[in-house]
Amino acid sequence: SQRRTLIAGNWKMNGQKADGLALAKGVAEKLAGAKPNCDLLVCPPTTLVGLVAEAVKGSGLHVGGQDCHAKVSGAHTGDSSAAALADLGCTYVIVGHSERRTDHAESDAVVKAKAEAAIAAGLVAIVCIGETLAQRDAGQTIEVNRSQLVGSLPAGATAANTVIAYEPVWAIGTGRVATPAQAQEVHAAIRAELVKALGAEAAGAMRILYGGSMKPDNAKELLALPDVDGGLIGGASLKVADFWAIAESC
Ligand code: G3H
Repeated sequence: SQRRTLIAGNWKMNGQKADGLALAKGVAEKLAGAKPNCDLLVCPPTTLVGLVAEAVKGSGLHVGGQDCHAKVSGAHTGDSSAAALADLGCTYVIVGHSERRTDHAESDAVVKAKAEAAIAAGLVAIVCIGETLAQRDAGQTIEVNRSQLVGSLPAGATAANTVIAYEPVWAIGTGRVATPAQAQEVHAAIRAELVKALGAEAAGAMRILYGGSMKPDNAKELLALPDVDGGLIGGASLKVADFWAIAESC
């Protein structure tokens, strides 16, 4: 495919200085010894982003944030701007992860504004969408993802500044991975919606990641699907060997 696979690790709220540095350096060392057929990204918690970015500088390992504020600066206690993440060495940021949509009541409009702020700061926005189990069981999967995509897609989205991540909520941290058929069906529907929103060229070049219990033993099958262009990995990104095994499945 014309799309270069992206393997992104989302560490979530895990790790402190010692283990975060060991994990990032471990991945960077692997990268120094062998070039997998994909781009590799780690997204540490905000507390570790600067440290990790400094430690892996020049290794080819990309570093990203897990969230950013929609505004450039101001009275937003506890939040981080996209520009501040970029200043620390980030090149990507995840926005609209289902945990943020749930824990912080982030709407599609908020996610869209965050993605636009990320792009304005020069970051690649990884925009997450995905249905709950109740929505899947009610036959609403395609419509829920379509509507989240349309509502969250940043203005000015291009294949260079935006990545979509499809994460079925029922597959996140559960060990219950989507079947290849389930993943491909939604990814193809997302691609079709991107064609409508952005045109065939941009939609054809935009990466759509799968996330939700992707592990070394199921990654190869998922990454081989025509519209799956990478993975957003939670649990398995916390061990160098597991994360690297997924990278080697590309
Ligand atoms: O962002 C990552 C996802 O939420 C997937 O997490 O691999 O632990 O299921 P998981």
